[in-house]
Amino acid sequence: MAKLEVINHPLIQHKLSILRRTDTSTKAFRELVNEIAMLMGYEVLRDLPLEDVEIETPITKTVQKQIAGKKLAIVPILRAGIGMVDGLLSLVPAAKVGHIGMYRDEETLQPVEYLVKLPEDINQRQVFVVDPMLATGGSAILAVDSLKKRGASNIKFVCLVSAPEGVKALQEAHPDVEIFTAALDEHLNEHGYIVPGLGDAGDRLFGTK
Ligand code: PRP
Ligand code: URA
Repeated sequence: MAKLEVINHPLIQHKLSILRRTDTSTKAFRELVNEIAMLMGYEVLRDLPLEDVEIETPITKTVQKQIAGKKLAIVPILRAGIGMVDGLLSLVPAAKVGHIGMYRDEETLQPVEYLVKLPEDINQRQVFVVDPMLATGGSAILAVDSLKKRGASNIKFVCLVSAPEGVKALQEAHPDVEIFTAALDEHLNEHGYIVPGLGDAGDRLFGTK
């Protein structure tokens, strides 16, 4: 079963509470999503391989560590995943960015894929799929299906708010995909929204409602 890691650093919990509030503006929402994604990055990127490098300090030559330069890809699920990209890129600026466009049919809650644009060498990259919300899990599962179909095999999923239903579904469908979340909420309501959640992440991020 894939590991679930709840990254609940006090700074993240504080920012997440502001993010959830109805009276948080679009501008603040956007900034907070990026900040939380960046703070989560410390944990999400914990396994980055290091290599030895010989350097010279003012005192002596010494062998120290540097990031081994493993190839990374950040893949936001559109639209809302876009909000998390810059925060992670600020930590790993050389990462490539792919896009998977997907929306949930409001009646069936089933995800509909409308765009897939990935780095050509996605099969050689450590992939971080990002989306603020893991609700039923349908979008995350389809995004990982899509990536695996195109050769990706080393995939982690990063979200801000998750529902137990979505975590379970993603773990069952893709037991190899580690899940990072800033909060594990209570449940889904009858419309498939996370409770307490933060509402519709895409609309709040882009001010479309
Ligand atoms: C939201 C969210 C996820 C999805 C999660 O996207 O950003 O992609 O719902 O729900 P699920 O786990 O039940 O699939 P939405 O469908 O609202 O599209 P948008 O980001 O374009 O608004
Ligand atoms: N998508 C959202 O944006 N919010 C939810 O609560 C569930 C799915």
